[in-house]
Amino acid sequence: MFSSFRAKLLSLKFRAIRRFVIIILAKIPKDLERAIIFGDTLNHFLMITPLKYFFKFNIPSNIKTNLYDLTFASPLISASFKDDVSSLLQWQLLGIGGITYKTVLKSPSEGNLRPRIQEINYEGEYGILNSLGLPNKGVEKFKLSIPNKKLMHFNRPIGISIGGNSDKEYFEVFSTIESYLDTIDFNQFFYEINISCPNTEDGKCLSDDLDSLKTLLKRFRDLSSRVIFVKVSPDSTEENICTICDILSDIEKTAINIGNSKYITAKNAGLSKKAFTKEGGGLSGKYLYKNTLQMVRLISSKYSIPIIATGGVCSYRQVKELLENGATLTGMATLLVTDPLLVPQINQRLSNE
Ligand SMILES: Cc1cc2nc3c(=O)[nH]c(=O)nc-3n(C[C@H](O)[C@H](O)[C@H](O)COP(=O)(O)O)c2cc1C
Repeated sequence: MFSSFRAKLLSLKFRAIRRFVIIILAKIPKDLERAIIFGDTLNHFLMITPLKYFFKFNIPSNIKTNLYDLTFASPLISASFKDDVSSLLQWQLLGIGGITYKTVLKSPSEGNLRPRIQEINYEGEYGILNSLGLPNKGVEKFKLSIPNKKLMHFNRPIGISIGGNSDKEYFEVFSTIESYLDTIDFNQFFYEINISCPNTEDGKCLSDDLDSLKTLLKRFRDLSSRVIFVKVSPDSTEENICTICDILSDIEKTAINIGNSKYITAKNAGLSKKAFTKEGGGLSGKYLYKNTLQMVRLISSKYSIPIIATGGVCSYRQVKELLENGATLTGMATLLVTDPLLVPQINQRLSNE
């Protein structure tokens, strides 16, 4: 009761501060990334002081969720979109049941030119459009940051999202990380294969070549016994998704994550050329929910593979609806930046059901 009240109060404060920072920093010239950098820096300082305990909420024990040999403390998990320890730690304190690192690539990359991330209103719904282009430190540097005691202390699953510009790169990233994880005494790591990240010049990705995906997944399975999620795009056709499910049904300890952000053009999002350097990017937020639910219903009616429902999840009602329709876990990205204090409130309501 007191905990719910505290979460609501903190949520009000968080949203007011966030809006203020955006008005001051991200409007002229329009670039949301300035506000994000400021917010991340502020959060970093918060997380290295005892003030971080203001954000600590217990997760009721009756919402624990098992998926193969992983135990998620709650069915709410953070989707892959950040890799800074302070953000991941803040969400764990709030009550996220498991975390997923941002997609890692073989080589370091700065990503696309700014401005490359903006708030938008798409068909009446709040959303974020990003074309970050997977900025990352490269697998060699990334792997050394994995055994973080603060994050492992929670003993909740930690996902590592794998990306690549070719099959060869996916395999190199996966095998480099797997050899490293074998040296760490923590058994709650899992993989997520991001097959919807067109980083190549011709824009092709693994989801366009399902024979290669199948071969690659079998090679991953031979190398590792850890759980593997495959994260698909909401732009995939139903037929494409069913073929991926057929592949996953034949490979042990796999699950499907529906899904990534949806491609739309900057023009359709109402952004000028000055506000977005690329032709288009990935839409995330509320608009995606309808498709997420539809895909969960489709997959659960035909397959028995576990489903992680990601895309537009912003409320208790939606989490409940997805779980009732066959999802095992629900992933969140946009909600964790707009109103992360909803996490403890949703956990509490799930527990009270
Ligand atoms: C800024 C940003 C960066 C993202 N980076 C990644 C990424 O590295 N890998 C990935 O699989 N998905 C990435 N995503 C997609 C999210 O993980 C998630 O699938 C998508 O945003 C839909 O969920 P949401 O509506 O809850 O935001 C990113 C999303 C955002 C907004």
